[in-house]
Amino acid sequence: MESREMTACGMHKDGKAYPSESRRQYEYIDRLRDIFGSMYGDASGGRGQGTFSVVTFGCQMNARDSEKLSGILEGAGLREVEDELSADVVIFNTCTIRENANEHLYGRLGRLKPVKKKRPDMIIAICGCMMQEKDEVEKISEKYPYVDIMFGTHNLYTFAELLYDLLMKRGGQQILPDSHGQDILLRDGRRAMISVWKDTPDIVEELPNKRKFPFKQGVNISFGCNNFCSYCIVPYVRGREKSREKKDILEEIRKLGRDGVKEIMLLGQNVNSYGKDLSEPVSFAELLRETDSLCDDMGIERIRFMTSHPKDLSDELIEAMASGKHVMKQFHLPLQSGSDRILKMMNRHYDSEAYLIKAEKLRKAMPDISISTDIIVGFPGETEEDFEATLDVVRRMRYDAAYTFIYSEREGTPAAAFPDKVPEEIIKERFGRLLELQNSIAAENCSRLKGRVLPVLFEEINEKDASLISGRLENNSLVHVKGDPSLIGNIRNVRLLEAHGFYYTGELTD
Ligand code: 5AD
Ligand code: SF4
Repeated sequence: MESREMTACGMHKDGKAYPSESRRQYEYIDRLRDIFGSMYGDASGGRGQGTFSVVTFGCQMNARDSEKLSGILEGAGLREVEDELSADVVIFNTCTIRENANEHLYGRLGRLKPVKKKRPDMIIAICGCMMQEKDEVEKISEKYPYVDIMFGTHNLYTFAELLYDLLMKRGGQQILPDSHGQDILLRDGRRAMISVWKDTPDIVEELPNKRKFPFKQGVNISFGCNNFCSYCIVPYVRGREKSREKKDILEEIRKLGRDGVKEIMLLGQNVNSYGKDLSEPVSFAELLRETDSLCDDMGIERIRFMTSHPKDLSDELIEAMASGKHVMKQFHLPLQSGSDRILKMMNRHYDSEAYLIKAEKLRKAMPDISISTDIIVGFPGETEEDFEATLDVVRRMRYDAAYTFIYSEREGTPAAAFPDKVPEEIIKERFGRLLELQNSIAAENCSRLKGRVLPVLFEEINEKDASLISGRLENNSLVHVKGDPSLIGNIRNVRLLEAHGFYYTGELTD
């Protein structure tokens, strides 16, 4: 089998016939539209439009990437369907932050095997973080030889091209000479298309996009991460940090405002270090101030951002947040551990004291701020004393929400080679204690707002009870009210009648 790994080959191809890489990709989308039109249109006996399904695992960055993939496939003339088993093209956008994310994918791939056997024309693609992992592409093509396309995080924008090349090669036809992909012969003689780059310095703007929600939208501000926390695989699979140009971000937000979007979420692995790598450096605080005033002009009510690294949380940012008219007073400040010894081993560049001081500054500047966190339990070498230090910070911080994770060893990260792995029973026991403590704190925090009347942005019909519409407070807490779907996308005042630990039930007051 040919080598599956390619390095970034640069996006402007030698022919220079295209003014930009995005134009080049739009050409591929047009070609796909013709091909799919003849496959699923009249030519297939009136079967109607072809369909696609994008299955997303993991974080907000992946959710945002999936919107781009959906945009490409919709541009190619396919219609989105919920159920991947019935789709003509299925993409799994993978996550690999913890081992169980990988397991998830294998399960879903397994379910597709009999479906693909019945419908060999179905196309199965996999992309995202897992594809950047050493050996994963190899493993999948061995164990799941019915996967047709695999590509990584750095060349998501080439998906239309890879899909086109696959269809052409299978039809025995020529592909264009400047193609990015590499085809491999599968055991059953069919071809698969593989293209995984190690990294790329480029950001391709103006790709197609299919927005999932009309009223809220994630906006990428940077990609990748330079922090190399010792447990984390992200810098290896998402590459070094690259910031988008401020003008491109603001232009995107302006368009969203014109589309009537009410809430934006600025996205990056570490938004606090945004802009340091630009040829004309800009701070995140500066971007936030400009975003705030643009949102004011454009009628966008709410600005959120995700994720921050405590070491890069500056006084300038706290000031920009506090004075921002539209910046929601909500901060996700991942602690990871409360033990200074473990934080050092994690390569986090702060200690618990520095963390608490920054959190105190946030609360002083914005007394109503809601603070959430991420905590890892069972990092190699974590003793009872280290864990007690984490509980101690949790008690002092009184987080509104905490995402707690059991340490998962990721191959290739420094921590994978650390000694003194913590036994599973001890991790589980500690995890339970942390959860119990945090749940009681969150419940107490939640009850504080009971009886208040606050604005809620309504987002969706409640999954369990269709008579309820669910939305979010400014501090991001979940609220359910009796109402009809016309509420969705609107901000309305709600009296919070009952607090239920991490969500409220309420009634409209206007
Ligand atoms: N094991 C457990 N949790 C992890 N995280 C990142 N890497 C790992 C790992 N190897 C958690 C961190 C991070 C969140 C997104 O995922 O808490 O903040
Ligand atoms: Fe991973 Fe640390 Fe980067 Fe977050 S800051 S993505 S935990 S390396």
